[in-house]
Amino acid sequence: MKQKGKKRLFIKTYGCQMNVYDSARMADVLAPLGYEAVDSPRGADMVILNTCHIREKASEKVFSELGRLRAFKDERRAEGAEMVLAVAGCVAQAEGEEILRRAPQVDLVFGPQTYHRLPEMIARAARKGGGELDIDFPVESKFDYLPEETINPGASAFLSVQEGCDKFCSFCVVPYTRGAEFSRPVAAVLAEARRLAAAGVQEITLLGQNVNAYHGEAATGGIWGLGRLLRALAEIEGITRLRYTTSHPRDMDDELIAAHADEPKLMPYLHLPVQSGSDRILAAMNRRHTAGDYLRIVERLRKARPDIALSSDFIVGFPGESDADFADTLRLVTEVGYAQAYSFKYSPRPGTPAASEAQQLPEAVKAERLAGLQQLLGEQAVAFNAGCVGRTLPVLLERAGRKPGQLVGRSPYMQAVHLSVPEVAQQRLIGALLDVEIEAAHPNSLAGRLPLAGDLRPCSAASVAPDASTRARISA
Ligand code: 5AD
Ligand code: SF4
Repeated sequence: MKQKGKKRLFIKTYGCQMNVYDSARMADVLAPLGYEAVDSPRGADMVILNTCHIREKASEKVFSELGRLRAFKDERRAEGAEMVLAVAGCVAQAEGEEILRRAPQVDLVFGPQTYHRLPEMIARAARKGGGELDIDFPVESKFDYLPEETINPGASAFLSVQEGCDKFCSFCVVPYTRGAEFSRPVAAVLAEARRLAAAGVQEITLLGQNVNAYHGEAATGGIWGLGRLLRALAEIEGITRLRYTTSHPRDMDDELIAAHADEPKLMPYLHLPVQSGSDRILAAMNRRHTAGDYLRIVERLRKARPDIALSSDFIVGFPGESDADFADTLRLVTEVGYAQAYSFKYSPRPGTPAASEAQQLPEAVKAERLAGLQQLLGEQAVAFNAGCVGRTLPVLLERAGRKPGQLVGRSPYMQAVHLSVPEVAQQRLIGALLDVEIEAAHPNSLAGRLPLAGDLRPCSAASVAPDASTRARISA
């Protein structure tokens, strides 16, 4: 039943964790106006599609969703009510005009930098009868205008510390949709982290398109890098785990690598995209690092934290990629040994330099290379997970699983871990950090159990180093 004065808000989030964070903050901005989250767009007073432009056919997916939503909007109208339809995020930033032209049912279009102005935009759109566009890169930071975050964030939360990117990889839209690099000041980040800790959050994942390019102004003067920021965050009481994503190899500085060596709260898992193992292709991608540079960083990270689990993004079939270039990528994968990874076929993004390269590869070549790479990465993920069986890992239990009594959490290495507990204990264990005996490995998750039935002792070890055979497996 709808409460009087309450409005129903449905947000559909596409893409990266940055968008997940942004969606939560949009809900925060709208809460004082009486908007409450619901899980279906049907009958909602406001629907926001928070879009992502990185994936292939991103805008087509948005247009087809808008087609579906139009029916719900008409339904509301027939009931004498309104549904405000908004498109947010990177597709909005890149294709705002086009959206308003092709989808007149849309009332608001706004980019990732302007959602702090949502209440104002809604009021303006209502006055005008729709068609509001706000895709500026404002001079002021949206972070200065956002309300404090949601009251009940759970055991693990995201905290956005950096946005935008100045790197201009030749395949990527981010510098055009998210704008120039910007770091939140240290004090603002620490204050948000303290509020999260006070609300019961134990694990914080720092977010940024180029998170390790973080260079935040400190209240005491000077600029802090991410390593220093992580150390300060580790001192906050209640915070037991820290992570950050996504990093660029060029910004893995000494201070950050050292933090992996001696800050036990910093989890031994790093998503460090390399994109390709070929120097020729890396240069064409404007990555400004070689395969050798990347391998040296991996070596230093492993020296700092021997059990660190690595993840990456790869693009296959970049314009001009030869069989030999692709073989270099497979070689790099073999040399590094990934715990998990994401891989994509190159797909041109309008307006990016690589899109106008002459030597675009046939789809069949891209598909074949992707299958080959995914086969290798899949084998490595299976081996990495299998290497955890028989070990006891500290798991932060985040939520109930689908089956009765099932709990789902994360290992230090970011693996999802499923376990079953008596149903009476299930609710009470959400948010606990417990030692879990790993009994089975699947390609994308682990299954485990609590060491002794009824013995729910808190976890003692911050993390467990892999044994020699695991290390050999993952670097095979
Ligand atoms: N084609 C294919 N993959 C891409 N990515 C970014 N742009 C493209 C593109 N044009 C991938 C990169 C990046 C990840 C988030 O998405 O691997 O790291
Ligand atoms: Fe895109 Fe990342 Fe390159 Fe920036 S560093 S342009 S976000 S791929």
